[in-house]
This record gives sequence, C-alpha cells and structure tokens, in this order.
Amino acid sequence: MSSSSARSLESDREIPYYHAVGNECELFEQAYRQHLPLLLKGPTGCGKTRFVSHMAARLGKPLFTVSCHDDLTAADLTGRYLLQGGETRWVDGPLTRAVREGGICYLDEVVEARKDVTVVLHPLTDDRRLLPLERTGELLEAPDDFMLVVSYNPGYQHILKSLKPSTRQRFVAQTFDFPPPAVERDIVARESGLSADRCSALVNLAARLRDMKGQDLEEGVSTRLLVYCATLIAAGMPIMEATRATLVEPLSDDEDVQEGLMEAIRATFG
Ligand SMILES: Nc1ncnc2c1ncn2[C@@H]1O[C@H](COP(=O)(O)OP(=O)(O)OP(=O)(O)O)[C@@H](O)[C@H]1O
Ligand SMILES: [Mg+2]
Repeated sequence: MSSSSARSLESDREIPYYHAVGNECELFEQAYRQHLPLLLKGPTGCGKTRFVSHMAARLGKPLFTVSCHDDLTAADLTGRYLLQGGETRWVDGPLTRAVREGGICYLDEVVEARKDVTVVLHPLTDDRRLLPLERTGELLEAPDDFMLVVSYNPGYQHILKSLKPSTRQRFVAQTFDFPPPAVERDIVARESGLSADRCSALVNLAARLRDMKGQDLEEGVSTRLLVYCATLIAAGMPIMEATRATLVEPLSDDEDVQEGLMEAIRATFG
C-alpha cells in the first residue's frame, strides 16, 4: 500500500463519515469561524448527530455531547461541587469544559431541558459569549474555538416544549431531512456493506413508507433504520424478516398500521 493511501485511510478513520446533502458543512464552518451558535432541526435518524461529530473532527475540535432530558438542569451543564475523599471540589460540567478548554458543545434534543438551562445559554449565545458560574463566582469568556450546537426534532415537539423566540433567535439554523434517494442509497451502502443496487431498492421502499406518514405514523422511517435493515440483509437475514424487524416493528405498535406497512413491503419484494 502506498503511503498516501495509508494516510487517507488513516484520516477516514479519524473523521466520521458524513455525506453532505447541501451546503450544511460550509454553514457549520462559517458559523464556527464567525462565533455564531448553530441550531439543527429535523426528524429522528436523519444524520444530525453524525454531522456534528463529522464537523468537530474536521475542525479538529473536541466534542462535548449532552443528550438533554426533562430532568436536565443548568448544573448538569455547568458543573457542581462534589464530595471527593472528604473534600468538596468543584467539577466542571460539559458546557463549562467546552468553554474553558475550547471545543464544540452539542446539546441534543435541547427542547427537553429544564427552563433554567436557557438562563445559562442566553449570555453564551449572544455577542457577549459569557458563561457565568454562580456557584464559583467565575465569569468565563468563551474562547474563539468554542461553539455551541443544539438540535431538536420539530416533528414530535410539544407546544410547551418549543424554544422561546428569544432563545431560537440567538442561533443560525439549518433544517435536516432525509437525503435525496441517490445520496441515501450511498449512505446506506457505505454504512451497511450491502450493494448499492440492493440499497436502492430499500431506499425506494422507504419513499413509499414515508408517504404513509401522517395517516397513522408519527414519523417516517429513518435513514438509521434503513441502515439497520441493510446491515441485517448483508449479514444474511431474509428480506422479509429484516424489513419487519427494522421498518415495521420500530414504527408502530398498531396491528393495522403494521399490516399496511407490510403490504407495501410485499408489493416491493414479495
Ligand atoms: N448524511 C449522512 N451521512 C452519513 N451517514 C448518515 C447520514 N444521514 C444518516 N446517516 C446514518 O444514519 C444514522 C443515524 O443518524 P444520526 O444518529 O446522526 O441521526 P439524528 O438525526 O441524530 O437522529 P436523532 O434525532 O434520533 O438523534 C447514522 O448512524 C448514519 O449511519
Ligand atoms: Mg442524534
């Protein structure tokens, strides 16, 4: 193997694979360079998390990811005093670490977090770029290589769980959706090892299943599930079994809805 192909393999390993759909990589990079926070929105399994890990690696910055949930408080992000060996010691949370050390802090499903989190995010996401740590009395100024990225899924967003205008209007924003068929085929093939032709058939099937969204399904089948399906098929599982386990069961518990999905699958592969 030549040294240049060895090097490109090496860099492939370091940078998680992400297939761009539009100008999202340029937008991310500009937002990073101009010190602007970024908001990503889109359905489950469409590549938001992969995109952020890819961009963090491309920019060579550490990534601090937090999956937000309804118990997540500001202290979970900023840090707290912990008892260690009989002494209380301040321990930075992931947001504080990203501000202190430089790096990308990614708050996934940010709408789930408790209200007090926005109090911390506001001074950090306008031109002040400040993180006040009340408990330690510090006021941290974010370095040039700090970036805040948040994401959420507007699909199952609860009215009480949307972001306030004063929060969302602090971010540059980008909508994600399932990739166009040719791109999704390449992604599924690359992720699963199944041939492009066979992935193409799965992607066409997905389009049909996604058309059924809204009638009885909360959300269309994700790219993630297509990757699962192709992975099982590549490992030798019969198509009908693989599709039921990945494109039907995870989508609905309702027998009629499941039957509707299976019908579409039989019409394609049956
Ligand atoms: N553009 C893409 N390039 C490469 N892989 C992709 C892309 N889009 C989706 N994938 C594949 O789909 C999987 C799911 O993507 P990811 O976890 O980033 O979704 P997500 O949008 O963060 O979903 P959630 O909202 O549920 O967290 C990835 O692990 C990857 O295999
Ligand atoms: Mg994600």
